Amino acid sequence: MCLLNLFSALYVLFSFASLLIFTVGVQITDLRVPAFVENGTRPGALLDCEYSLRPDELNKEAGLVVKWFFNNSAAPVYQWIPGKKPQDLGILKGRLRLDYASSEHRATKHRALYILNPTTELSGEYKCQVSTFDDEDFMVKKMLVFATGKPFDLSLNKYGSESVNISCKALGVYPEPKMTLFTESGTKTRAPVKGASVETLARGAVYDIMASTVLPEAELTTSTVIVCELKIPATNVTRRQTVSYNPGSMESLSSSSGTHKEMLHVRYLIVGFLVALLLREAAPAPC
Ligand SMILES: *[C@@H]1O[C@H](CO)[C@@H](O)[C@H](O)[C@H]1NC(C)=O
Ligand SMILES: *[C@@H]1O[C@H](CO)[C@@H](O)[C@H](O)[C@H]1NC(C)=O
Ligand SMILES: *[C@@H]1O[C@H](CO)[C@@H](O)[C@H](O)[C@H]1NC(C)=O
Ligand SMILES: *[C@@H]1O[C@H](CO)[C@@H](O)[C@H](O)[C@H]1NC(C)=O
Repeated sequence: MCLLNLFSALYVLFSFASLLIFTVGVQITDLRVPAFVENGTRPGALLDCEYSLRPDELNKEAGLVVKWFFNNSAAPVYQWIPGKKPQDLGILKGRLRLDYASSEHRATKHRALYILNPTTELSGEYKCQVSTFDDEDFMVKKMLVFATGKPFDLSLNKYGSESVNISCKALGVYPEPKMTLFTESGTKTRAPVKGASVETLARGAVYDIMASTVLPEAELTTSTVIVCELKIPATNVTRRQTVSYNPGSMESLSSSSGTHKEMLHVRYLIVGFLVALLLREAAPAPC
């Protein structure tokens, strides 16, 4: 008697479970968003939203709509209703390839965002939301469009009579980077330069960064290589510049050589003036 009750209870449970399975509506099965994209290096970035539908949700009357949102805004940046033209909106207006097709299926054809020439201001959270009249699902992922800026500059300049000013500068980086100076000696052991100061400046939506330090020349040998490393923390992107310490070639960069050149200019000026004066004296006086 008791056993029979158990069986009927299990039967009810199973039927309820199978009912649930069959009524599960639209479900996002995968959201593929590139985590990092380098600014200005790609013709496009594809953000795709895969979903499954119940057979009856494939009907025209089911009210299927695909929307994409940026940074949790209330207004979508993209909307597509099967059978209609996809629409680019807000920050993505004019920035999408609207004829991109993820598939040839009527219910999934224009589900994806194909962002043309992604740039840093399109970094943020992308939410795909798929809904029908009875059901809805969404998923969110981040995309970071980073920029390493202009090729950066590492220079050594004589500082006083016995020191060297090492300075490294990168302009127009996004997001906020880190910069480190290292010295590498003959054995290739790398040591961070002690006491280097790093200054970061926000310039509009990008960052400029400079690391510099003054080292006594006694701490450097001709086999020393100076390395400047620029890192974009959220990514594993690293850019490096190296320069070898060479006391001979550095002389030409030092400020003393600058004044030397100016002195030469003054000398040429004086000589030129004297020549002009002589020529004038030699020429016959105008009537
Ligand atoms: C990103 O790339 C575009 C060209 O595609 C360029 O105009 C813009 O200055 C770049 N932005 C940054 C922060 O480097
Ligand atoms: C979007 O959100 C990200 C953080 O996820 C933020 O860094 C970025 O500035 C936001 N972009 C816009 C245009 O609001
Ligand atoms: C070292 O050189 C950089 C770039 O030329 C300069 O901005 C910085 O002020 C110099 N450091 C010192 C201590 O003079
Ligand atoms: C780091 O860079 C390598 C390629 O250099 C890439 O395959 C990997 O996915 C990157 N990892 C992260 C967390 O970005």
